[in-house]
Amino acid sequence: MNTSIIENIQHEMQDFFTSDSTGHDWYHIDRVWKNAKRIARYYPEANHLHIELAALLHDRYDRKLVPDASQARQEVQQLLLQQGVEKDFIFRILYTIDAVSFKNGANPVQARSIEDKIVQDADRLDALGAIGIARTFAYSGAHHRPIYQGEEANSPADTAIAHFYDKLLTLQEKLHTPEAKEIAKGRHQFMLNYLEQFYAEWHSQK
Ligand code: ADP
Ligand code: NI
Repeated sequence: MNTSIIENIQHEMQDFFTSDSTGHDWYHIDRVWKNAKRIARYYPEANHLHIELAALLHDRYDRKLVPDASQARQEVQQLLLQQGVEKDFIFRILYTIDAVSFKNGANPVQARSIEDKIVQDADRLDALGAIGIARTFAYSGAHHRPIYQGEEANSPADTAIAHFYDKLLTLQEKLHTPEAKEIAKGRHQFMLNYLEQFYAEWHSQK
């Protein structure tokens, strides 16, 4: 029964996130779902249905993606009710989703349960490494922002490279689970190497 709820929600999300060029396509959802399952394996005591549903639905009412976030949040509630999910359980899933979002590091809703923490870690892992770099440039391009403006740029420019410092390089230490931290290590180092190569090429030194 649980498998069919997960499959139904998976198909709903596949249909919803059909095409998006800002880094929020179905494949982002799919990777976050996979990351979450990968971490959850180490937590047999956690509620895995909760984790999988929150991972699948985590961007469904993001303010950046829908015109009316509170309406979209209600749609998620409806969707889960239709699947026969109990109200209390729905509220716990929605809490997890509310806690996941980054909001420039200023989200008032804190990750508290192990389910919240695993889904948040899973989402943050997808902002790191080669995939994270690709998503950053895709997002930046979609918002008509420059790649970089040189070290001499004195205005706090919203460039793709600035986003590494604003967010990407800060995520490693914000992760909750040791399993996610372990995965993040290689991805973090990859971004540092990337930046080093980027600056070297920028200055025609490599
Ligand atoms: P997520 O779905 O991982 O929580 P966001 O909705 O915050 O991510 O952003 C989607 C992707 O775009 C992420 O990979 C994020 O790092 C990137 N991104 C967000 N804001 C910016 C920005 N100002 N410049 C460049 N990339 C950004
Ligand atoms: Ni996400």
